[in-house]
Amino acid sequence: MTPLRVGLAGLGTVGGTVAKLLRDNARLIERRAGRPVALTRVASRTPKPGIDLGQATFDTDLRALGADDVDVVVELIGGETVAKEVVATAIGAGRHVVTANKALLAAHGEEIFLTANRSGVSVGFEASVAGGIPIVNALRTGLAANRIDAIAGIVNGTSNYILTAMEEEGLDFATALADAQRLGYAEADPTFDVEGIDAAQKLAILAALAFDATIDFDGVHVEGISGIDIEDIRYARELGFSIKHLGIARMHADGVEARVHPALVPESVLIGKVSGVMNAVMAHGNAVGPTLYVGPGAGGMPTASAVVADLVELARGTLPVPQPAERRLPSLGVEGVECPHYLKIPAIDQPGVFAEVADVLSRYKVSIEAVIQRPQAIRTGAEPWVPIIILTNEAPEAVARAFVSDLGGLSGVTGEIARIRVADLSA
Ligand code: HSE
Repeated sequence: MTPLRVGLAGLGTVGGTVAKLLRDNARLIERRAGRPVALTRVASRTPKPGIDLGQATFDTDLRALGADDVDVVVELIGGETVAKEVVATAIGAGRHVVTANKALLAAHGEEIFLTANRSGVSVGFEASVAGGIPIVNALRTGLAANRIDAIAGIVNGTSNYILTAMEEEGLDFATALADAQRLGYAEADPTFDVEGIDAAQKLAILAALAFDATIDFDGVHVEGISGIDIEDIRYARELGFSIKHLGIARMHADGVEARVHPALVPESVLIGKVSGVMNAVMAHGNAVGPTLYVGPGAGGMPTASAVVADLVELARGTLPVPQPAERRLPSLGVEGVECPHYLKIPAIDQPGVFAEVADVLSRYKVSIEAVIQRPQAIRTGAEPWVPIIILTNEAPEAVARAFVSDLGGLSGVTGEIARIRVADLSA
C-alpha cells in the first residue's frame, strides 16, 4: 500500500500535535484511510527538538515543502503572507493542501480554490472552523441534500472560554484571557479572538460553503467581547439569558446577513448552555430543519483531529477538489436585523429620569419588556448614578441606533449606554 506522504509546515501548538496524533493513532488511521498516512517532511522556522518527528526530515525553509517527496502539504503556519506562498507553491507543484488557516481562506479562499481547481488538487480546511467539530464535512456531505438557509453559533473558543469564566468563576476579563492563552486556545494575536475577527473569518468560510457562494469578508459586521462587563453577564442571567459571542449568517433575497457580535441567548436554548472552549454550530437545511453540532473549538488536539480527518479523506480519495462557487453574494451585515435589545443606561438617581428614558423609547414605539434598577447598585460620583437595565421588544437596527443616540443625549444620562442584541436562534 502506497503511503500518503505528508509535508507539515509549522510546528506550533497544532503542528506538534498533528505529528503526535499521526504517530499515536497510526494503526487506526491506516485502517480508516486504507493506507498509511506518513509524516515525511517537516518545516518550521524554529526547530523544536522536543517534538518527536519520527522518520520525517526537518527543514527550517518553509518553502521546501513543494518538493517531490510529499503528496500533501499541511499548512499550519498561520497568517496571510508566508502561508499564502507555501499554499500557492504546493498547489503550483500539484500537491494537495490541508490548512487550518481561517485568515488565509477568508481573505484569499476564492483565489486558492480556483487555482486548486485548475491544478486538480484537493484543499482540506476542516480545521479552519470550529476546531474539532466536523462541520465542514457535515455541510459538504451529511447535509448535501439540503439548501442551507442559515448558519449560526459560537465559533470562537477563546471568547466563549472568557465569557464562561467571567460568568461561572467571576474572573475578570484579563485573567480569563491569560488562562485561554496559557491553554493554547488564543490566536498569536489574541485581539483576533476578543475583537471578533477570528469568528468573522470562520463565519465567512462557513457561509461560503453552506450557501455555495463567494462572500465578501469585509462586509461581515464584526463586534467582539472586549466591551462586555461582568455586570452585563449577571443582569443578563437575571433576565434568563447567557451572553454568548455569536456568528450568524442567513440567506436573504438580496444577499447574506452576516454578523458577529455578543448576544443575549435564552438559557433555555441549547447554544445558551454551551460553555468554556466548546463551540456550537447550528445549520438549518430546507429538508432536515435545524441541526446542531457541538465540540471543542480550539486547542491542539481538537484542531489536530480535524487536520488528520482531512488527511484520512485525502488518503481514501474522498477529499474533493474545490469547485468554483455558484454565485457571488453581497454581505448585508447587520443592517436588516430586527431583534430585542438589552440596554444598560447609566442614569442620575433623581426623579423623572426614568420617565425621560421611557419617553424616548415610546417615541420610537419600542416597548419595554423588563427593567432592573437596584438601590444597592447606586454609585457615587459628582452626582449619584445607577445603571438602569432595560430589555426592549423587537426593534430594527437603525431604530436601535437612533434611540441609543437620543438616550445618550438626555441630561439624566451620565455616560455611555451599552447595547447588546438578543439573538433569535430559531433560524
Ligand atoms: N483562537 C481560535 C479560537 C482557535 O479561540 O477559537 C481556533 O480557531
